[in-house]
Amino acid sequence: MQLLLIAALGLTCATPALAADLPPKPVRLGLCAACHGETGMAQIPGAPNLAGQRLDYLRKALQEYRDGTRNVPLMRAAIGPVSDAELDQLARWYSAQAPQPQAHAQP
Ligand code: HEC
Repeated sequence: MQLLLIAALGLTCATPALAADLPPKPVRLGLCAACHGETGMAQIPGAPNLAGQRLDYLRKALQEYRDGTRNVPLMRAAIGPVSDAELDQLARWYSAQAPQPQAHAQP
């Protein structure tokens, strides 16, 4: 009985903490989702999965596309002239997602 109570307490404490860990959904996410998926699992061949990628890496990659240091026309067009705050939001969102198993076998 005591064990059950402890388990129940643990559950009620864990759930809100998990929800609070997810950052707010970025406004620009809709566009990104066409290729990278809303939760960072790629939707088209050739697009990388972003779920669970390191925050500092994602932020740097996005800065590089925006500034042209990474000159990939597709991503440069997709990211456009975003502010640092928006860029940070997008990086936080994808970094906080849990990677999922691949839906399809890789070629
Ligand atoms: C039309 C499809 C498309 C759209 C839309 C798109 N991406 Fe990409 N993204 C790609 C492709 C393809 C790459 C790989 C480019 C390369 O070789 O550097 C990429 C690369 C990236 C990377 C680097 C990943 C890595 O591991 O280096 C990040 C971060 C990223 N995209 C974020 C975003 C965000 C945020 C948005 C929305 C603003 C977005 N992308 C919109 C196709 C897309």
